[in-house]
Amino acid sequence: MSHQELVAAAEAAREHAYAPYSGFLVGAAVVDDQGRIFAGANVENASYGLAMCAERTAIALAVSAGARRLKELVVVTSVHPPSAPCGACRQVMLEFGPDMKVTAVGPDGQRTWAMVNLLPDAFGSEDLNTGIK
Ligand code: THU
Repeated sequence: MSHQELVAAAEAAREHAYAPYSGFLVGAAVVDDQGRIFAGANVENASYGLAMCAERTAIALAVSAGARRLKELVVVTSVHPPSAPCGACRQVMLEFGPDMKVTAVGPDGQRTWAMVNLLPDAFGSEDLNTGIK
């Protein structure tokens, strides 16, 4: 799995974005620790607040297929500079990819972060006494 494959998967998913209300089309893709790629798009709703971001769509698909450790996420939009994942997505990303590399791709370049820099001092599973690592 190459970074470029992940970008291509996110771009392909973006083709299916359902964003008639915002017009903001987003695609995302993640790769798990087995090299499996999962991609998703944003899915909006007439009840605006129910919009699902592309990042969380991709992560839900990965987790539903058994993935638990995500290594990298790519999100693709059409804006420059490339837009970073929203706060809700950052929290969900942390759950399955605390060491994840995150890249936002736009029409004219990309930005990359370590997950720890996107959500410093985060609340996570280690704050609970569940034994989940
Ligand atoms: N959106 C995403 O899918 N990912 C982001 O990183 C930012 C926002 C979606 C949610 C909504 O469908 C539209 O973009 C505008 O906020």
